[in-house]
Amino acid sequence: MILSIESSCDDSAIAITEIATCKLLFHKKISQELEHSVYGGVVPELASRLHAEALPRILELCRPYFSELKAVAVTSTPGLAVTLVEGVTMAKAISIALKIPIIGVNHLKGHIYSLFIEKETQFPLTVLLVSGGHTQVIQAKSFEEMKVVASTSDDSFGESFDKVAKMMNLGYPGGPVIEKLALDGDRKRYPFTIPLHQSPLIAFSYSGLKNAVRLAVLEGTEEDYKDIAASFEHIAVAHLIQKLKKYFKTNPPKHFAIVGGASANLYLREQIKTLLQPFGATLLLSELKYCSDNAAMIGRVAVEMYNKKMFTPHDALHVSSRSEL
Ligand code: KG4
Ligand code: ZN
Repeated sequence: MILSIESSCDDSAIAITEIATCKLLFHKKISQELEHSVYGGVVPELASRLHAEALPRILELCRPYFSELKAVAVTSTPGLAVTLVEGVTMAKAISIALKIPIIGVNHLKGHIYSLFIEKETQFPLTVLLVSGGHTQVIQAKSFEEMKVVASTSDDSFGESFDKVAKMMNLGYPGGPVIEKLALDGDRKRYPFTIPLHQSPLIAFSYSGLKNAVRLAVLEGTEEDYKDIAASFEHIAVAHLIQKLKKYFKTNPPKHFAIVGGASANLYLREQIKTLLQPFGATLLLSELKYCSDNAAMIGRVAVEMYNKKMFTPHDALHVSSRSEL
């Protein structure tokens, strides 16, 4: 079995995965959303302290599995340095105490492998990764061959939802609240401009849309929030769809996946389904409970890395914000 730890942002999570079958034997996550909500975003120092409390509490529950562990896996990049270090330090301690190797896992690969929890892998895939930290299109041919073909030059898709929610004093994380508010709103009332619509580049940008929404919030009243949320969500998704359509002209998809915390957005899922129809492409999605950060996805990557003997020496296990796959 492999014990995996995730602490890249505001979720403390540990999982136990059986190597031979990929079966998830244990998974527990303690989320810090409530604590960060008053600030309208994640406060790194607070997140770090909360991980230091939560991770040992979860680890205590894993004691019965200790004698069966063959490796300990941990998210080492990308993420907040002060929170990653909590998981990495715990992994090093476990590695020394139980005399087992460490597997340092890339968080973004984790999101891609959230598609394969308790399942076989499936490649090649075109992946849209939408989270709080990233907005990327990735061509994933295999575990080793993953290439980022488009990314954002400023805010990410999920982050723009967080910031819009903050403008409306709706707490953190913004994705689920904005999605809910938008359900009763008029998507056409605010004709925000689709970012980069005149640019030939296949790239994303959310800062301009965020500022347009800020003006609408300032000029409007709370009565208008649902229409602003609906119009914002509509344009935020239209931007992804427009750029994907452009990309598909030269790279038609066969198997497409949406991963990351924001892949839980049902409006986005619907629009992507419609986009894929003419191509007859299949759509892969993670289970809703594994879209946001979790340790099960880190464990699933770790099984792959364990079988390839991809262990990380203690002195080479560094935390970083580098997102190279
Ligand atoms: O993957 P994740 O848990 O953490 C990162 O790796 O960043 O993603 C969290 C992000 C947050 O920005 C959150 O607001 C967004 O995903 N999110 C959503 C939805 N649910 C979560 N964004 C839009 N619609 C949602 N339903
Ligand atoms: Zn994530």
